[in-house]
Amino acid sequence: MSTPSPKKDTPPENTHKDEQVLDTTLRPVTWNDYIGQEQIKSNLHILLSAATERNQAPEHLLFYGPPGLGKTTLAHLIAKEMNAQMKSTSGPAIEKVGDLASILTNLSPGDILFIDEIHRLNKLIEEILYPAMETGTLDIIIGKGPSARTIQLDLPPFTLIAATTRISLLSSPLRSRFSGGTFRLEFYTDEEIARIVKRSADILGIAMPSEAAEKIAGRSRKTPRTANYLLKRCRDFAQVRKNSLNGEVVSGALELLAIDELGLNAGDRAILDTLITKFGGGPVGLKTIAAAISEEESTIEEVHEPYLLQLGLIDRTPRGRIATEKAYRHLGHNMPEGTQNSLL
Ligand SMILES: Nc1ncnc2c1ncn2[C@@H]1O[C@H](COP(=O)(O)OP(=O)(O)OP(=O)(O)O)[C@@H](O)[C@H]1O
Ligand SMILES: [Mg+2]
Repeated sequence: MSTPSPKKDTPPENTHKDEQVLDTTLRPVTWNDYIGQEQIKSNLHILLSAATERNQAPEHLLFYGPPGLGKTTLAHLIAKEMNAQMKSTSGPAIEKVGDLASILTNLSPGDILFIDEIHRLNKLIEEILYPAMETGTLDIIIGKGPSARTIQLDLPPFTLIAATTRISLLSSPLRSRFSGGTFRLEFYTDEEIARIVKRSADILGIAMPSEAAEKIAGRSRKTPRTANYLLKRCRDFAQVRKNSLNGEVVSGALELLAIDELGLNAGDRAILDTLITKFGGGPVGLKTIAAAISEEESTIEEVHEPYLLQLGLIDRTPRGRIATEKAYRHLGHNMPEGTQNSLL
């Protein structure tokens, strides 16, 4: 039942390890470093202050949104603010009911349990999570057949923080148990991303003129992780060319990475090109697009589509995806009269 893990929002040749090291070095450690997402921060501030005053563990929280927008970072910041120990795991890592039971029984009072990719949690395991979240109890079945009996263990008070890129795959009983709130992370503005790029450049010791920061920001898919990734690639490019980082160097580096002025990478453009040249602009189902460009459906849905939708290059209709006029223009095509989408 598990879906394959999608690639992240950077070109496939980017190694995962490299990305993880970058994530931890540049991850904000204070709320001030965590730029943007103001509404979420305000809500969390109230929730955490109230819980602290009552001397209770904060209620369970769910963060969702496309990869690289800062969900895991938020979980770390909350743990730090609450002075709590955070135990991290992920949906696919919890394979058996016993795995979750052992994680839960090993929690100390006030701990934060972070479950990443919670949409990939097996349904049987979800059932164990419900009472744990709701009443703080763990139901364990001992024995088999007619002699089987359930015993109930009390768990220490804890806060579950879960993250997902695919909220639609979460069952509604599970969703409803995040009593502290469900928060959707938004794409960042170019100005926010430019601030993130400057902060990261400072940490990495790179001199960063505003022009270069803005150029990187404009092509970062409105996503902090991509911005940090591009920053690093631009630094490499500048180093090899024995140049300092400036607007020209950024343009050269981004051209080499095949990232265009809208921040689209080769994968994004393949989707648009397929929609337009193979399917007359759509509507086309996700499966068909995935087969046509030899890509995982989940990667298209989680990594590429949110940004293409955000830019208004595609639309989702009940009959499938369509390319908008903006997509035609971006790829240098004229939208023929009478196509499905021109009639919308
Ligand atoms: N608001 C922010 N301000 C500054 N940097 C940020 C912010 N959000 C994220 N980042 C940077 O982006 C990186 C990726 O963020 P994070 O790992 O929290 O994303 P995520 O939403 O958990 O992604 P995924 O869905 O892939 O797990 C972080 O290491 C951090 O450097
Ligand atoms: Mg994460």
